Amino acid sequence: MEIRTIREDDIVAWTDAMSIGFHKVPDPDKENQEKRIEHWRERAEFGRSRGAFDGDRCVGTFRSFATGLTVPGGAIVPVSAITNVTVSPTHRRRGLLTRMMRADLADAAARGEAAAILIAAEYRIYGRFGFGVAADFQKLRLDTLRTRFTPGVLAEPGGVVELVSPLEMTRVGPAVHEEFRRLRPGVIGRSALWWDLYTGVRSAPKGPEPARFHAVYRDPSGRITGLIGYRSDDHWDEMVPKVTLLVDQLIALTPQAEAALWQYCANVDYVNAVEAADRSPDELLTMLVDDPRAITSGSRRDFLWARILDVPAAFSARTYGAPGRIVLDVRDDLGHARGRFAIDNGPGAAACTPTEDAPDLSLDAAALGALYLGAGSPVRLATAGRLTEHTPGAAARAEAMLRTEREPWCPDWF
Ligand SMILES: CC(C)(COP(=O)(O)OP(=O)(O)OC[C@H]1O[C@@H](n2cnc3c(N)ncnc32)[C@H](O)[C@@H]1OP(=O)(O)O)[C@@H](O)C(=O)NCCC(=O)NCCS
Repeated sequence: MEIRTIREDDIVAWTDAMSIGFHKVPDPDKENQEKRIEHWRERAEFGRSRGAFDGDRCVGTFRSFATGLTVPGGAIVPVSAITNVTVSPTHRRRGLLTRMMRADLADAAARGEAAAILIAAEYRIYGRFGFGVAADFQKLRLDTLRTRFTPGVLAEPGGVVELVSPLEMTRVGPAVHEEFRRLRPGVIGRSALWWDLYTGVRSAPKGPEPARFHAVYRDPSGRITGLIGYRSDDHWDEMVPKVTLLVDQLIALTPQAEAALWQYCANVDYVNAVEAADRSPDELLTMLVDDPRAITSGSRRDFLWARILDVPAAFSARTYGAPGRIVLDVRDDLGHARGRFAIDNGPGAAACTPTEDAPDLSLDAAALGALYLGAGSPVRLATAGRLTEHTPGAAARAEAMLRTEREPWCPDWF
C-alpha cells in the first residue's frame, strides 16, 4: 500500500475515494469530472494532498492547507489545516490514516507551521495523534415570540442594516473578516475562493451553496462593522407564518453591530424563531433579550482541534491573562511537541523557551493542544488526572495565565 502526494491525473480517483469515505456514491458523469479536475486544481495544493493507493486504486485521502490561526492577543500564527480525511471501508483499520497523518504532520513541522488544526468527524479519531479540543461551538435558537430585545442595550442610533448582493458581499466581506479575525482566538483565514463559494458567486462541483440573503451593518459613521448571511425556511401553517430564519454567518466588529444584526433577524416579518448553528460558546445574545429562557442552546460541542507542532513558536505568539512563569513537561509520541518549556509572562513580551528547570506541570500533546487557545482548563484537567501538577497551585496559576476573556471560536467549517 503506497502513501504519496497526488498529481493532477489522480484528482478523479482521489475525489471518488473521498466520496466513498464520506458515504456518497461517486459521480460517474464525465462533464462533472472535468469540473472536479478544474476545481481541485485550484483548491488543493498537490504537494500537501495525499492519497493511499492499493495498486492503481485510491483508497485513502488526506489534504492540508496553509492558513493563519488567531491566537489570544490577536496574532495570527501559521498553521496546517487538515481536511478531506478518508479511508475506504474496504481498507479501514490497517493504519492508512496513521501513515498519512504522520507524513503530513512531519511536513508541516518542517515547513515551520506552529500547529495543525482540524474538525473531527468523530471524537475518538484524533486524540492519539496529539490533537486536543481547542474551541467549542454551539447551536442557538431564539424564540422571537417569547422575548424582545431589551430597549437601549447596545443600541446605536443611526446604525443601519443593508441587504447586499452576493457579489457585493465578496467585495466588502473580506476586509471586515480580516478585522474580525484579530478579535477572536480560533478564527482562521478565508480565501477568495471561500467567499466565492459561500456567496454562490461560483459553485463547487458537488453543487452550489443554498441561496441566502446577505446583509451588512453600517455604524452611524457609515463604516461596515458587521456581516450576516441567512436563509428562511418559509414555513407556514394554516395561513399562519411560522418561519425560522437560519443564520449561516454573523460576524461583528463591535458589540453594537452584533446586537443590531440579531435584532434585525428577530424583527423580519413572519419570523417565529432565529436559529444559528455554528456560534461561539459565549454568545452575547443571552444578554440582549429580556427573557434569555427564550434562547435554547442546542448542543455545545467540540469543534476546532489543535495539535501543537512547535511549542516555543506557538506559545510565544500568544498573550497571557496573568503574569507568571510556568514550566511544562510535554509528552508526545510523535516527538513534535516533546520536551520541557517555560512560558514566561514577565514585564516584557511573553516568551516560551526550552528549559531544563523542574516542571510545574506535565501533560501530553493533546492536553497542550486543548489549552492553546484558552478554552481548556488546567485545573479541570488536573482534577481529572489528565495533567499532573508537580508544584502545588501550578494548575491554578496556569489557568490564570492561559485562559482568555472571550472563549475561542472558529466560525468556519473546513
Ligand atoms: C477515520 C478514518 C479516516 C480512519 O482511518 P483508518 O485508516 O481506519 O485509521 P487507522 O487504521 O490509521 O487507525 C489508527 C487507530 O485509530 C483508531 N481509529 C481510527 N478511526 C477511528 C474512529 N472513527 N473511532 C475510533 N477509533 C478510530 C483505530 O482503531 C486505530 O487504533 P489502534 O491502532 O488502537 O487499532 C476512516 O475510518 C474513515 O474514513 N472514516 C469515515 C470518514 C471520516 O470520518 N473521516 C474523518 C473526517 S474528519
